[in-house]
Amino acid sequence: MCGIVGYVGQKQALEIVVAGLRRLEYRGYDSAGVAVVSGEELVVRKKAGKLVNLETLLGSDPMPDSTTGIGHTRWATHGGPTDSNAHPHVSEDGTVAVIHNGIIENFAELRAELNAAGVSLSSETDTEVVAHLLALELPAADRDLPEAMRRVCRRLEGAFTLVALDREQPDLVVGARRNSPLVVGVGQGENFLASDVAAFVDHTREALELGQDQVVILTPTSVTVTDFDGEPAAVRPFTVDWDASAAEKGGFDLFMLKEIAEQPRAVADSLRGRITRDSRIQLDETNLDEAALRAITKVVVIACGTAAHAGMVAKYAIEHWTRVPVEVELASEFRYRDPIVGPDSLVIAISQSGETMDTLMALRYAKAQGAHTLAICNTVGSTIPRESDGVLYTYAGPEIAVASTKAFLTQIIAAYLVGLYLAQVRGTMFEDEIRGVLAELDDMPSKVDLVLDTTEPVRALARELAGATSVLFLGRHVGFPVALEGALKLKELAYMHAEGFPAGELKHGPIALIEEGVPVIVIVPSPRGRAVLHDKIVSNIQEVRARGALVVAIAEEGDESITPYAEHIIRIPAVPTLMQPLVATVPLQAFACEMATAKGHDVDQPRNLAKSVTVE
Ligand code: AGP
Repeated sequence: MCGIVGYVGQKQALEIVVAGLRRLEYRGYDSAGVAVVSGEELVVRKKAGKLVNLETLLGSDPMPDSTTGIGHTRWATHGGPTDSNAHPHVSEDGTVAVIHNGIIENFAELRAELNAAGVSLSSETDTEVVAHLLALELPAADRDLPEAMRRVCRRLEGAFTLVALDREQPDLVVGARRNSPLVVGVGQGENFLASDVAAFVDHTREALELGQDQVVILTPTSVTVTDFDGEPAAVRPFTVDWDASAAEKGGFDLFMLKEIAEQPRAVADSLRGRITRDSRIQLDETNLDEAALRAITKVVVIACGTAAHAGMVAKYAIEHWTRVPVEVELASEFRYRDPIVGPDSLVIAISQSGETMDTLMALRYAKAQGAHTLAICNTVGSTIPRESDGVLYTYAGPEIAVASTKAFLTQIIAAYLVGLYLAQVRGTMFEDEIRGVLAELDDMPSKVDLVLDTTEPVRALARELAGATSVLFLGRHVGFPVALEGALKLKELAYMHAEGFPAGELKHGPIALIEEGVPVIVIVPSPRGRAVLHDKIVSNIQEVRARGALVVAIAEEGDESITPYAEHIIRIPAVPTLMQPLVATVPLQAFACEMATAKGHDVDQPRNLAKSVTVE
């Protein structure tokens, strides 16, 4: 999830591009860079770290005047957040500069092809291969950059937004997109490209939405769009109805709302590139030795908060698929209980920030005991993946809101991929069984989308219950960690008592909490999964309802069995048992977000909390 800006017109490009990057910095802040065309020269400045580092560099090492420029804020995927990995990337002959958002899945083979052709690459990124390929195509395309872009795009696999400059063609910016956002800002005597309209909304509100597999050619006075074969392509014009202040959040009032809405794409991006054409799992960045994986006798998940809940969900799946015992340990407790870990253990550290000190210290302890360690992390180059034997990155994009949402769903996805990989390596699942689960996972972005379209009743209910002093959450099986996650969201956002229980535990004490009107939110398992679980939770609903609880059931479409016992039913799509957390969690996120909003709280930065807890 990077920020991309392009400009061509009459004004100073650098000023406009940097201001645009400032608007997009929420999309990534591992590094930033700009390129301009000046006097048939490409001039590039780029720097690791936040945008302010680039601005400092520009102050000490100014760029020449130019009316054509591009800029990029990076959220690292391939290669850590370093100066050399920062965009823009420039071709070996210095003629082409390119910036990129997305993941080029076949970059390894393209990289090998360039090496074989004698091209030396200077970064670890997938993007750099595009700069070299464009320069190699330019002569054959009669130095027509749009044609060179089309030729290169036809060879790329994966998700990409690309924007390029040619030093010999000033007043020209060329972009392309597949599975990654790019919009055009149409001005008077100037035109813009950006990852989202936030970057240019101060200059123009007239925009064009580009379609899949399209190339866009900007000059100061023209915008031309073709498909990858050069045929004219239709685009949809629209007028931006946001005010500039909302722009950083992509038009949403809150980062949390934006990140809840990004979950389908985050799940899709976290699956992308990890499944071969013959549906085998490929987790090459995990550096996990297959023989070692066949020898492990247990898996230990170490994490905190929401990440721990993701681990709890994954436990059910990994044990079901691999028959390897999985322990889920709160990182802050792990190393003080003399845990039994060693060379026969795979320790998985789950962390969105990759800097949580409790998790990092637990990881170091596990490594000292000789365990194999794998990080599941959303921040490339952070400490926890750096200190792990291997890493499986989630590609959720930067998560700004303190309350974790899209990271949670993508942590489940990543942990499921590890479980399937273990099953594949240990032979505990047949290939067709693995393919079946992969198909279910592939279907999840659209299922999550369906839930997002129906959150209004949940928000209305949250406003209705804003006066409650306590809310209980019940779940069974994979629904139990979802109940814990729903309660955590409500605690950290609405500052109210909320507690998640395994529904079967209710009668062993917590049911004493039930009195008239106490809201109880119940995650109802699918009746098609383990019917016994469904029937038991219907009994639990009756138990609490008989004592006056106000029951809110999160239940799949078509499950009418709970209708007589629930005051409110929030419907979710029918999905396989192990997939339910990916859809059942979303209404709980929306519920907590709306309740906090109704209470007038700072949803994105709740009191007493920090996005990354770097102290023990
Ligand atoms: C969840 O909404 C909280 N922000 C918190 O529990 C968080 O999940 C926990 O601190 C772990 O953070 P990490 O994933 O960055 O390690």
